[in-house]
Amino acid sequence: MDISIVGTGYVGLVTGVCLAEKGHRVTCVDIDQEKIDSINAGIPPIHEKGLTELLKKHIGKGFCATSDLRQAVLDSQVTMIAVGTPFDGKTIDLSYIRAAAKQVGNALADKTDYHVTIIKSTVVPGTTSKVVCPILEEASGKHLGKDFGVGMNPEFLSEGVAVSDFLSPDRIVLGGNDERSLAVLEKLYIPFDATIPRLRVNLSTAEMIKYAANSVLATTISYANEISDLCESLGGIDVTQVMQGVHLADYFNPSVNATDKTHGRITAPITSFLEAGCGFGGSCLPKDVKALIAHGQSQGVEMPLLQAVIEINENRPAAMIALLGRTFPTLTNVRVSVLGLAFKPDTDDIRLSPALALIDLLKGRGAVVTVHDPLVKVDADARFGPPVVFADSLEDAIENCQAAMIVTRWKDYTRLPGLLAEMTAPPLIVDGRRMLDCHRVPNYEGIGLSAAQDAS
Ligand code: UGA
Repeated sequence: MDISIVGTGYVGLVTGVCLAEKGHRVTCVDIDQEKIDSINAGIPPIHEKGLTELLKKHIGKGFCATSDLRQAVLDSQVTMIAVGTPFDGKTIDLSYIRAAAKQVGNALADKTDYHVTIIKSTVVPGTTSKVVCPILEEASGKHLGKDFGVGMNPEFLSEGVAVSDFLSPDRIVLGGNDERSLAVLEKLYIPFDATIPRLRVNLSTAEMIKYAANSVLATTISYANEISDLCESLGGIDVTQVMQGVHLADYFNPSVNATDKTHGRITAPITSFLEAGCGFGGSCLPKDVKALIAHGQSQGVEMPLLQAVIEINENRPAAMIALLGRTFPTLTNVRVSVLGLAFKPDTDDIRLSPALALIDLLKGRGAVVTVHDPLVKVDADARFGPPVVFADSLEDAIENCQAAMIVTRWKDYTRLPGLLAEMTAPPLIVDGRRMLDCHRVPNYEGIGLSAAQDAS
């Protein structure tokens, strides 16, 4: 099929390149000419495993980028809208969605054949039918259902593995305004493995599925962190052992053969969201949960569970500071290194990373902060202001500090026990991801552990 995609951000670009890999002809549209030039030169503006290889493979063949939205719509049967929906604290900002829908609608006015516009962006339930559809009708002067169709097809891409998530999805959620548009959405996914479940729903249900899916992940993380805080206070309990015990239940760790509980057990991936740590960040989980709460409230529905999920998460950087405070009751002029800026490993994305709030707290308490990340390179002075500096290597980060705080579970940081063993005065390690063996680190504090001597 011929597909145009509005927005070449993380979702739009990965979707476009991967659909080209599946045999479709794709044109990605953006207003940023610099981005377009970079993409057409085979250089993706974001770091995503496997993306460069696929882009180079398809650029100029089944895939290209342009700023000419009108032409891209005219030359395609399907347009996907994958623009940003930033959260402004009260509601998601739909201005990019509205602008894109208007331009697509303007182009549809000049089309004679049936066209389907699909919303890929994460939008609160009701947005596609109540906001996008009227704009398309007005701008095109045409009728939904008769002249054109609308779809909602949420993405479930996890940063760092977005390309493989797209090419081998666990589910395909297809929301449509009617059978005709749903048939077009299904056609789009014909090149995908036929055994992947396809769920056909209405537009609002498709929108809700995306929020419900991210909210359950955020909830399990905050649940683990609440248990972690109690373990820390009670003493003598290590939350990692508690969670191991939880994970071993049949429902998280089922046997391949239901009658044989000793062999062939598989670990459900959700267990990786049931671990105590310094909290969730990124461009999706915090924003989506907050947007859903705000949307519920705007409809008169309080969402106390999700409110608590956010509150617990926002306290995680303070929980890290409390661990540091066991050794350094005051932080004035204490040299602290923050290890990891990315919101999770294998990405260079620092949006809403717990590291940012932690750095602010440290600065506020007068600490002298060094930051390190194996992938993210920032001008620390410009980004965080003095006295924050950037260390080029893990060795540099730990050399002169009194405490180092792990925020991101980077593989590089597994080298710490070896590096610390060679130091005469190793710093305190505050492990925000419980990724190190506490027995191999001389001065150790970990989330969900009452005190170093309790880690037996
Ligand atoms: C998330 C979802 O996992 C995807 O399914 C979804 O498609 C995507 O949002 C999206 O809406 O686009 P992503 O934001 O890439 O994906 O990252 P996750 O792997 O979910 O991690 C989110 C945060 O949770 C990270 O900061 C991570 O460090 C944190 N986390 C994860 C914890 O704090 N504790 C855990 O036990 C697990």
